Order: sequence, then C-alpha cells, then structure tokens
Amino acid sequence: MRTSVFYYISMRKIVITSGKGGVGKTTVTATLGRKLAQSGFRVVLVDGDVGLNNLDVVTSIERRVVYDMSDVLAGKCRAFQALVADTQSPMRILPSSKDSTALTTQAFRGIVDGFSDFDFVIIDCPAGIEHGFHRAVSAADEAIVVTTPSASAIRDADKVIGLLAGYRLTDVSLVVNRVRADMVMRGEMIGASEIGALLHTPPIGVIPEDDMITLYQQLGSVPAAAVSDRFFELLAQNVANGTKSFTDVRAKRRLFRRR
Ligand SMILES: Nc1ncnc2c1ncn2[C@@H]1O[C@H](COP(=O)(O)OP(=O)(O)OP(=O)(O)O)[C@@H](O)[C@H]1O
Ligand SMILES: [Mg+2]
Repeated sequence: MRTSVFYYISMRKIVITSGKGGVGKTTVTATLGRKLAQSGFRVVLVDGDVGLNNLDVVTSIERRVVYDMSDVLAGKCRAFQALVADTQSPMRILPSSKDSTALTTQAFRGIVDGFSDFDFVIIDCPAGIEHGFHRAVSAADEAIVVTTPSASAIRDADKVIGLLAGYRLTDVSLVVNRVRADMVMRGEMIGASEIGALLHTPPIGVIPEDDMITLYQQLGSVPAAAVSDRFFELLAQNVANGTKSFTDVRAKRRLFRRR
C-alpha cells in the first residue's frame, strides 16, 4: 500500500503559463488534463486565473459550481468538497473565486498541496507577470509555457521563461499552439523547433490551429475527431512519461512527401 509520503512525492504540480494573454493556456490546461485523466491518472485542475476565470466555461462545469476557492479559504468547505467533476473524463476541477483579495500566494499553495491524493495538479495561470502569475507559479514544481508562433507571444514567452528561472521549478517546457502547417511549409510561419531554439526551451507539444476548438469550446468539449486531438494526446504522453519528443510539422511533411 502506498504511504502518504509517497503520495506527496508522486504528485506533480504543473503550471500552464504564457505571459501574453489569449494564446491557449486554458485550452491546454483543460485538454491536457482530460487526456491524462482518460489515461488513468488522477487529475485536478486548479483555476489560478482569479477574477477573469474561464476554466469553468471551457470545461462546462459553470452551472454545477457550488463552492469555489474563496469558500475553501473562508472555511465554508474543505477543498475536496469544492471540486467539480468533469463530464468528459474522471478529472476534477477547483473553480476560481470571484474575489482575489484573500487569496495570498501562501493560501493558494496550501490549497494546491492539499491535493496530494492526485497524480497531477494542473494550474491555469492568468496572463501577465503580476501577482496572479507569481501566485500560480509559486504553487507549482513544473511549468509549461504556451506560446503561439506570433512575434509578440514569443517575446512574452521569453520574458516569462526568464522570470521562471527565479522560481524553484524542476522543469520548464514549451507548447506551441495555433500552428499552421501550410504556413510553416511556405516559410510564412516560424516552426516549433525554431521557437524552441530561440527560447532555449524544449517543445513538448505542437498544437495546430483548429477551428473545432473555437466552435465547440463554448459547449464544454471538443470532439475527438478534431485535428488537434491527437496532438494533445502526444503532449499528454510527453507529460506523463517526462519525455520531450515532438514532431515538427515541417519534418512530418517531409516524411510523407511523394518522391
Ligand atoms: N489551437 C487552437 N486553434 C484554434 N483556436 C484556439 C486554439 N487554441 C485556443 N484557441 C482559441 O483561442 C482563444 C483563447 O484561448 P484560451 O482561452 O485557452 O487562451 P488563454 O491563454 O487561456 O487566454 P487568457 O490569457 O485570456 O486566459 C479561445 O477562443 C480558444 O477557443
Ligand atoms: Mg485563460
């Protein structure tokens, strides 16, 4: 039987961050969490985007929220009682509070550490590098930086990676989101391996631009037929195994090119 010490050690706390807003942090948090949960891991998502939270919308738990983080802090309930079950996987979600005033870095870390029965705690970080960023990153052991191939997102990712060096993190890796293979092929968009080299950070996931995400996200799930689905699966495999392999779109096209 596993001891509580082992549980604590085995829990992985990963923050999904970016610097720039709107690059896909919440999308990656929700979909990666689901993939890991569907593979049998015990997963809890923690909405660290206090005040501007939308993890509840993206996971479609909005109407089922009874307690949130502020109720946990106020002692109205225990953290596990505030968890809401995902409809698409065995994953649980801790909704964010509307008010961030009582939510200190220490209190947030305490809540995250309380989930020691889980294999993965994935924290959805707010945009920016202010207090909310500090609070979310301080509670984690590992960080995944999400960027898109746009110059401004890459520049913000660079800043964030520099800041992350000041935290006690065991691993920092990269997810490049909204990649257009056709544009990368034509040299109109920078590829994930080049972005990884620029940022000196290994990409562990490349997610294509996928209209299905935009279309279906407001309904709380994206169908498995979506082109991005197997790319999220590869990302989840890397996260689960601690590996850093990925296939760049350019390399993949070369592989399948007719001679
Ligand atoms: N790969 C993708 N293809 C198409 N649309 C995407 C993709 N990833 C995310 N989006 C869309 O981009 C928008 C922003 O995504 P999301 O909310 O996940 O970003 P965020 O980084 O969490 O934003 P914020 O900084 O505001 O919290 C959403 O409308 C989402 O549906
Ligand atoms: Mg978000």
